[in-house]
Amino acid sequence: MPSRPPVVLGTPLSTAAVRVMLLGSGELGKEVLIALQRLGVETIAVDRYTHAPGQQVAHHARTIAMDDPAQLRALIEAEKPDIVVPEIEAIATPVLEELEATGIVRVIPTARAARLTMDREGIRRLAAETLGLPTSPYKFCDSLAELQEAIDGGIGYPCIVKPVMSSSGKGQSKIDGPGDVKKAWDYAMAGGRVNRGRVIVEGFIDFDYEITLLTVRARGAGGEIETQFCTPIGHVQVAGDYVESWQPHAMSALALARAQEVAKKVTDDLGGQGVFGVELFVKGDEVWFSEVSPRPHDTGMVTMITQWQSEFELHARAILGLPVNTRLKSPGASAVIYGGVEGNALAFDGVAEALTVPNTDLRLFGKPESFIKRRMGVALAFADDVETARRNAKLSAGKVKPRHA
Ligand SMILES: Nc1ncnc2c1ncn2[C@@H]1O[C@H](COP(=O)(O)OP(=O)(O)OP(=O)(O)O)[C@@H](O)[C@H]1O
Ligand SMILES: [Mg+2]
Repeated sequence: MPSRPPVVLGTPLSTAAVRVMLLGSGELGKEVLIALQRLGVETIAVDRYTHAPGQQVAHHARTIAMDDPAQLRALIEAEKPDIVVPEIEAIATPVLEELEATGIVRVIPTARAARLTMDREGIRRLAAETLGLPTSPYKFCDSLAELQEAIDGGIGYPCIVKPVMSSSGKGQSKIDGPGDVKKAWDYAMAGGRVNRGRVIVEGFIDFDYEITLLTVRARGAGGEIETQFCTPIGHVQVAGDYVESWQPHAMSALALARAQEVAKKVTDDLGGQGVFGVELFVKGDEVWFSEVSPRPHDTGMVTMITQWQSEFELHARAILGLPVNTRLKSPGASAVIYGGVEGNALAFDGVAEALTVPNTDLRLFGKPESFIKRRMGVALAFADDVETARRNAKLSAGKVKPRHA
């Protein structure tokens, strides 16, 4: 498929500016914005609350309800960005599809990809039913009775229930036996993004490990879209939220080839240009597709220390039509720093101590408000081997102590 020609870069805050709007300006958006700033792109950081991390580093900050079609349309029409980059799932994607269809904006990677992946049903049906990719067995249910029926009718125990509209493990739980079903249903109803009362129930995959395969669709030297893969990233999830990741994750040659084949199929279908985080489960040589983000992935924060071009730099370059390089620089790891306390305007003790751990670095996201389980920062480490890097990243993260100022 031919790619778009490279964007002619210009001068921010002038008539020659290339203007890029980020929809979602958390820690991932912040890094994409920094990567764009380095190329002289004029940036507009949008979020639902003020002083979001990315808003602090962009030329312009706007605060709207991005899931409100009228507000989203009005903002895009007023700002007239050349490119719109969704960085979260909870966006009024039909508005993006309309504006893309009329040629008013270009959406990354495509408005359709943003729509399909904001809802577990869209992407799962595409992957399993249209593309025939291997996934866990699944059913969509609209009531507790339907959930029970789906489990009894073949999904079985153990299984996992997730609201169709949720991320970061919200509303998600494992069911080990009949006694857990109602609890899981109630938990899903409380944790979904919009209370549509619909869940997916998935058979539990007893995988050996799970990976994120960062997949980049970018313009090649000949002007065609080329698909490139980063080295697999391993990670640990607790209650559906990532706490630790590392790169590379060792895989058999066959499992890696299968993983790349799955990632290629799903990203070919979603199309456009940019980075995708393809989540896969692996057992021996067997690979299952789990889900995909059409944007940089939280577990990919490790690439800020392991790759010559982080996933954020790759995303910025790919969307601008520039060449990318996915090469690994060093084995490394990331470990999440949680708020640990609730409140505004936290102070962070122990940063100097954290940075005495060999070959480490730190990102503090600058979020105005902390929750106990809110991701406030990340420690990064590189080493000759992943084990040392993991140990040092965790050691470093553990030394940072958020507290009330
Ligand atoms: N069918 C399954 N079998 C086994 N484990 C699973 C299954 N589905 C999910 N998990 C586990 O739960 C984690 C989170 O699931 P999933 O990625 O679907 O949720 P999410 O809310 O989209 O999370 P995130 O936004 O952090 O990616 C997975 O990374 C995996 O560890
Ligand atoms: Mg996931």
